[in-house]
Amino acid sequence: MASFITVCSSLLLAVLVALSVQIFYFSPIDPLLLDLTPATTTRDNKLQNIIKLGEGAVKEPEDVCVDKEGSLYTATRDGWIKRMRRNGDWENWKYIGGDTLIGVTESKEGGIIVCDANKGLLRVREDGVSVLTSEASDGSQIRFADDAIEDWDGNVYFSIVSTKFNMHNWHLDFLEGRPHGQVFKYTAKTNESALFLDNLAFANGLALSKDQDFLLICETWRYRIVRHWLKGEKKGKTDIFVENLPGAPDNVNLAPDGSFWVGLIKLNSERLEFMYNYKITKHLLASSPRLFNFVSDLKRRATVVNVGTDGKIIRKFDDGDGKVINFVTSALEFEDHLYLGSLTSNFVGKLPLRGA
Ligand SMILES: *[C@@H]1O[C@H](CO)[C@@H](O)[C@H](O)[C@H]1NC(C)=O
Repeated sequence: MASFITVCSSLLLAVLVALSVQIFYFSPIDPLLLDLTPATTTRDNKLQNIIKLGEGAVKEPEDVCVDKEGSLYTATRDGWIKRMRRNGDWENWKYIGGDTLIGVTESKEGGIIVCDANKGLLRVREDGVSVLTSEASDGSQIRFADDAIEDWDGNVYFSIVSTKFNMHNWHLDFLEGRPHGQVFKYTAKTNESALFLDNLAFANGLALSKDQDFLLICETWRYRIVRHWLKGEKKGKTDIFVENLPGAPDNVNLAPDGSFWVGLIKLNSERLEFMYNYKITKHLLASSPRLFNFVSDLKRRATVVNVGTDGKIIRKFDDGDGKVINFVTSALEFEDHLYLGSLTSNFVGKLPLRGA
């Protein structure tokens, strides 16, 4: 009996040692300890009043954009660019394939530009799909491009979420807590993409101001948006546009009145906050995406905010428990309605702004 117990406990010990080596020695992250911004608890549930567009036909539409004709576009997780015409009819517009299509933006040349986390930036027009840019000027392959915005000259700013982790491991960047994000600028004349800004924390959504005098960049796990000046006295300088947001900013879009709409994701929960405070628990979370999904509360809330050019929050709408819509990643205002993208829904949300 005693020897049986000895054998069992030795076995158990061996298993524990092997597991620890697996989890800590081979950990994919080198974590920094940061404070996780506490979750907001206020709720108005106004996002529960959305209309569901294209329900069942659009898989995880992360981002939306609208072209000059008023057609709405989104990239779906099954590799399609889907389009909703002004009359409300959806069409399977262009097939690209893969599950790595993310940000979409309208282009003055017609059609849209889509970020493919594997291939770079693609131009999608009526006549087909082509590569806009897939290599940086140093020859390296562009990976994990997340969002893009075109300026009046046809140049395109685009974000790279992380130079260390890929789209399917995005949570590792958050757990590591080191700034591996970048912004590139694609110059139309030269067809070259050069590094524009570095050391960003999870560089996500981008927006240009109404006069194109500054560029906004969402730093998701820092719960803030930074502003980079493109014109005027402060040209070349970067400052903080808004911080301590009531959620982690994903995409940001210019509104017709010059303010901005931001989709905020819920990156925190009590369980996650606890595990975020220790390196050992961070390594543990990094060892299993299923464990991370179990601990995180991404699906428990949706929040969007309207931020003025002074960086102050003007309006906020949410679905406090994420009942009707959750994990809202983008909000776009068009003709008095908000169009919402989400990484968990199978529809695009539409919220009338009048009376909301
Ligand atoms: C621009 O560069 C990309 C590579 O980044 C290339 O695939 C594409 O064909 C080029 N386009 C033109 C018009 O030369």
